[in-house]
Amino acid sequence: MEFTEVIAKRRSIRKYKPDPIPEEKMQKLYNALRLAPSGANRQNYSFIFVMDEEKRKRIATEAGHQGFLAEAPVLMIAVCDPGDEFNVAIAVDHMILSATDEGLGTCWVGWFEREPVKKILGIPESKVAVIMVPIGFPDENPDPRPRKPLDQLIMIDSFRS
Ligand SMILES: Cc1cc2nc3c(=O)[nH]c(=O)nc-3n(C[C@H](O)[C@H](O)[C@H](O)COP(=O)(O)O)c2cc1C
Repeated sequence: MEFTEVIAKRRSIRKYKPDPIPEEKMQKLYNALRLAPSGANRQNYSFIFVMDEEKRKRIATEAGHQGFLAEAPVLMIAVCDPGDEFNVAIAVDHMILSATDEGLGTCWVGWFEREPVKKILGIPESKVAVIMVPIGFPDENPDPRPRKPLDQLIMIDSFRS
């Protein structure tokens, strides 16, 4: 897919087919994470891919029962030290755009109880569970969600109220 098309086509997907994701597509997602830039090239983060259905169900319960988290065949949880969340966001966006390019659906999920999810996944106390992303073949085709017009978003040369 053309890069501008990938950006335009990405949607938050909240309905997934149960079909497994072929390994070569997973490898592309792993590499998109690996190639992302990070401050001082620290790459100081980890990405847990939960394939185990029981664990996904337990995690969904800790995320306000957002059932689609367990329906997607893969659930990724990004982990870092406190203060490195920016780097995580960049890497995860790389992965999400790569997933779109591979015909996969994703959704950023920030609404979840951090401490119980950390316990389920054995994440050390000192680390932050930043964001979760379900990944799978989409079972819905949502219209684009509204965005602000450019003149409310972009400022040239100085801040404009
Ligand atoms: C940091 C972040 C956290 C989000 N958390 C959730 C969430 O917990 N649950 C959910 O269903 N969507 C979540 N979303 C998805 C947004 O609702 C969605 O991106 C927005 O409505 C625009 O829709 P679009 O992604 O289809 O363009 C999150 C998005 C971001 C960027």
